[in-house]
Amino acid sequence: MLKVAIILGSTRPGRNGEAVARWVHGLATKRGDAEFELVDLQDFHLPLLDEPNPATQHQYTKPHTQRWSEKIASFDAYVFVTPEYNHGTSGALKNAIDYLYTEWNNKAAGFVSYGSAGGARAVEQLRLVLAELQIATVRAQVMLSLRADFENFKVFKPDPHHEKSVTTLLNQVIAWGGALKTLRQA
Ligand SMILES: Cc1cc2nc3c(=O)[nH]c(=O)nc-3n(C[C@H](O)[C@H](O)[C@H](O)COP(=O)(O)O)c2cc1C
Repeated sequence: MLKVAIILGSTRPGRNGEAVARWVHGLATKRGDAEFELVDLQDFHLPLLDEPNPATQHQYTKPHTQRWSEKIASFDAYVFVTPEYNHGTSGALKNAIDYLYTEWNNKAAGFVSYGSAGGARAVEQLRLVLAELQIATVRAQVMLSLRADFENFKVFKPDPHHEKSVTTLLNQVIAWGGALKTLRQA
């Protein structure tokens, strides 16, 4: 069965991202067509990139890189749950992405974002970054409004219509994830 990571891309104390990622994971696990795992960046304790060799060489020198590499390599597709910081994604998520290369190649990804403009600008930037890693990003996107989907910008209360968007997003991620798996196996 296809393995999909739901990557929680914020590490800030009091982050809103945790409730969002848990919500996505809860909806995803109701489906029977893929395995879903919540991957919390906070659990990997990645310092600012401290590998001497470019990730393309795959010559890792640090145990934290090896652990992150093994985790990311184990998935066929990803759903990035990203905040928007200054119109980009979080530094923590960009740093975690930069640690690896081949582990990401020829896989599919989708986005769940949140912010005052639904995190749209962060995702547009992320799409460019992930293109360099040969990740195919699907069109569907779940965009949550800090104003409408969080009480007092803090307590996550998503409008029910977003559940349909999560379904569409996962449908596309699973379809492309499956197609690209055959490419990697060839
Ligand atoms: C450093 C920083 C920059 C931010 N910049 C933006 C921004 O450009 N656009 C936006 O919509 N929200 C911005 N925000 C508000 C975040 O969207 C909001 O705090 C959100 O909850 C952050 O995700 P997190 O709680 O999971 O860390 C910013 C927040 C921080 C901490």
